Amino acid sequence: MSKILVINSSLSGDASVSRLLVAETVQRLQATEPNAEITYRDLGDAAIPHLTSATVAGIRAVAETPAELAAQALSDELIAELKTADVIVIGAPMYNFSIPTSLRAWFDHVLRPRVTFAYKDGSVQGLLQNKRVIVIESRGGLYSEGPAKAMDFQEPYLRTLLGFIGLTDISFVHAEKIGHGPEAREIAITTAKSRIAQAITPGFMNVLNA
Ligand SMILES: Cc1cc2nc3c(=O)[nH]c(=O)nc-3n(C[C@H](O)[C@H](O)[C@H](O)COP(=O)(O)O)c2cc1C
Repeated sequence: MSKILVINSSLSGDASVSRLLVAETVQRLQATEPNAEITYRDLGDAAIPHLTSATVAGIRAVAETPAELAAQALSDELIAELKTADVIVIGAPMYNFSIPTSLRAWFDHVLRPRVTFAYKDGSVQGLLQNKRVIVIESRGGLYSEGPAKAMDFQEPYLRTLLGFIGLTDISFVHAEKIGHGPEAREIAITTAKSRIAQAITPGFMNVLNA
């Protein structure tokens, strides 16, 4: 049975475009495999704590204090969710040209030396394999083309973070110009939905299990 990990990070609740499109993605995935097991991680409702001087060693060095051990335990839990997933769906709104800090805090817990990445012969190796990622990117403006393209620190950053731990099979779905009025918002949602339908072909989940 395939496993899907669903991560939402929008702070906008029911008004969120990325949450709507993440739900659409999950429905499409379930249509291809109705028995898929789904784990939800909502970073908007239950934020992952930011690393502090009291906790960072739990992720990046040797955990000794109770605070470091707690950070390491959370990291273990988040990495276990990633490792067991075949497909990972990430809802990532653009906040200040990049990603929400809650999502960044999640990455701070899952990019862990010797666990999800390692250095070998002078180069980095991502230690996660055979997973597909679908990233839903919602943005107030237009970044896929035009003058603001150079200000897109969301997609290249996500591609780098995910690639660093071995997650290189990524489909990005944009919902752009969300802040350009209701009509633009509807067009963005419709366009993104058809992109999701294109990306999730009938064999989408089976490929990994073949
Ligand atoms: C804190 C914050 C920062 C934002 N920064 C940007 C930005 O830099 N560029 C942009 O185009 N839109 C920005 N927006 C607008 C959101 O990207 C847009 O509303 C998007 O739909 C949010 O995703 P959601 O609907 O899933 O919450 C920002 C919104 C918030 C709440």
